[in-house]
Amino acid sequence: MIMGFVQTKGGTGKSTLALNMAFSKAVARNYDSVALVELDHQGTLRNWWEQRQEMGYNNGRVSFHHISSTQKEVFQEGIKAITQHNDLMIMDIPGEGTGRLHTRFACAFCDVAVIPMRQSTNDESAFLDNLYPIIKDIVLAVPEKRGRFHVLPVFTHPRAGRDKIYSHFKQVLPPHVTCLKTVYPARAVYENFNRNGLNLNEYAAVVAGNRKYRQQVEKAVQDIETISNTLITIGRESDAGAEEK
Ligand SMILES: Nc1ncnc2c1ncn2[C@@H]1O[C@H](COP(=O)(O)OP(=O)(O)OP(=O)(O)O)[C@@H](O)[C@H]1O
Ligand SMILES: [Mg+2]
Repeated sequence: MIMGFVQTKGGTGKSTLALNMAFSKAVARNYDSVALVELDHQGTLRNWWEQRQEMGYNNGRVSFHHISSTQKEVFQEGIKAITQHNDLMIMDIPGEGTGRLHTRFACAFCDVAVIPMRQSTNDESAFLDNLYPIIKDIVLAVPEKRGRFHVLPVFTHPRAGRDKIYSHFKQVLPPHVTCLKTVYPARAVYENFNRNGLNLNEYAAVVAGNRKYRQQVEKAVQDIETISNTLITIGRESDAGAEEK
């Protein structure tokens, strides 16, 4: 199963979502081996992973891979080699800086492509101008990829109604792109948990003694579990759909 967090617009939470999903309990319950794959030459996750290594944290069933080549063959071989050894691959697909080629390859490989998007006129029109043309081309070339592109509303107000957000996106999204009913709320804890290479669950253990932080981090852990469960279910459904055909 290959899942990708993709968004040509920068700073929408792709790397944060990818790493925390890889270490979520939902993923651990469902997959024996998990590859966290960064395709971004910026190396946000690589730096974070190196810090983990230095600190000696336990990575359990999660391995990390960095592919920055935009040469099609190198990219394909890299992805194939990783899929052969892992039940689940979670890709962090780069934003604006790296160009469309990378995004195109990565989207074409995904069984489930998750598009973290803010509810804002700017982000919505940037999506239509930049990422959607790529999705349209892929769906045209490979019709089975239809129904594999899902918007995850991000940085939502923690108390905002999901139904309202969902109906908004349902109205503005073009064909072949659906909106998830799950959201990724804005929380200050996401800006701090990853210092020194921690993941959210490890950070939760560190702040367990502090009531204020503990409550915040527990909510964030719950967000990640809900998102991970939703994506695992969607992955299963797209697998079942592919088998029927
Ligand atoms: N739910 C959240 N609430 C508040 N801040 C968040 C949340 N998720 C991530 N952030 C913060 O927003 C910033 C961007 O997040 P992140 O690096 O995950 O995005 P990205 O899409 O990978 O960015 P880039 O396009 O630069 O690779 C970071 O500073 C991160 O700590
Ligand atoms: Mg990133």
